[in-house]
Amino acid sequence: MCQFSFFFLGSAQLMFSVTDVVEKTECNKTVILPCHVINLKGNNANVMFVTWKKQGKRIFSFDGARQQFYRDPTVPSANLASLADLPKGIASLMLDGAEAAVGNYSCEVTELNREGETTVELRQRIGSWFLLVEKAIIIALVFLVIILCSAQFSIIALKYEIVPQKKRGIIVAGIIFTAAAVVGTVLFVQDDYNAQNQSGLGLIVLPAVILVPLQYFMFGMVFDSLQQATFALIGLQILGYIIAVVGFALCVSACPPLHGSVVIAGLAIMAIANLLSLAYVFIMGSRMKDRPRPGKAVEEPLNDAKGVMLE
Ligand SMILES: *[C@@H]1O[C@H](CO)[C@@H](O)[C@H](O)[C@H]1NC(C)=O
Ligand SMILES: *[C@@H]1O[C@H](CO)[C@@H](O)[C@H](O)[C@H]1NC(C)=O
Repeated sequence: MCQFSFFFLGSAQLMFSVTDVVEKTECNKTVILPCHVINLKGNNANVMFVTWKKQGKRIFSFDGARQQFYRDPTVPSANLASLADLPKGIASLMLDGAEAAVGNYSCEVTELNREGETTVELRQRIGSWFLLVEKAIIIALVFLVIILCSAQFSIIALKYEIVPQKKRGIIVAGIIFTAAAVVGTVLFVQDDYNAQNQSGLGLIVLPAVILVPLQYFMFGMVFDSLQQATFALIGLQILGYIIAVVGFALCVSACPPLHGSVVIAGLAIMAIANLLSLAYVFIMGSRMKDRPRPGKAVEEPLNDAKGVMLE
């Protein structure tokens, strides 16, 4: 008898495959709250009624007989995850990540005279577009590049005469690049995944293209003719930039970013290229110390030649 009544009670109730907790992060554009009935009999949406409550307050319902939806104004995006799967017992709720506040949601399903309820808790998981450590490395690498570049420029400016116009040009380019990196960093560090973060990373990565001509001009101030090594260093710089931009393109559309390491690799190569360039200018530049500066080296023989020609 006991067994029978248990069976009878069980059959009057709708049973669910229970999920206690679901988590969302900044990356969830849409959130799905699961609700799976496992013992439907009719498998017919016309005899079903679904109600979703948030913290006890009705936010959504679907009346299968009338094919009518109710949505609370706070969750205009709320919908059944799949109306077609409702007859199979799937009454999961889908809503915009932004509208899905954390809390306890309950799903009530009625099929003719049988009904049941299940509760799922929606939690926010701390997680953002990039891991904190990835963000820190990206930002550190960009500022390392800026420091290495400035150091190189300072050495050159101290040792060699530079046409003021060129000097100003390089300083302006450097300031633009630094300003972009600072603004980019401010936008990028926010714990979100939105247009701001994306443009922040863009401002960190994309303007680094300035460094290529900058490096070319700086080498030109030190060496009268550019050697193979300087071209190799500029090539390395370009390679790093291309990798960083490819990484940026891959990251900007994915949350969480699948290829954050590509951006890091690109920026690291750029930093290495800058470090090697700094060392090269420092070592080769001092070897050339005794020789006349490029500017004079060109002028003087020219004057001599003129003198000879006049004679
Ligand atoms: C959030 O997104 C992740 C990854 O796409 C997914 O596994 C998870 O179920 C989503 N969370 C919710 C509540 O929908
Ligand atoms: C949801 O319910 C669980 C268990 O009953 C409780 O521990 C938790 O605090 C509730 N969450 C909210 C946001 O009310």
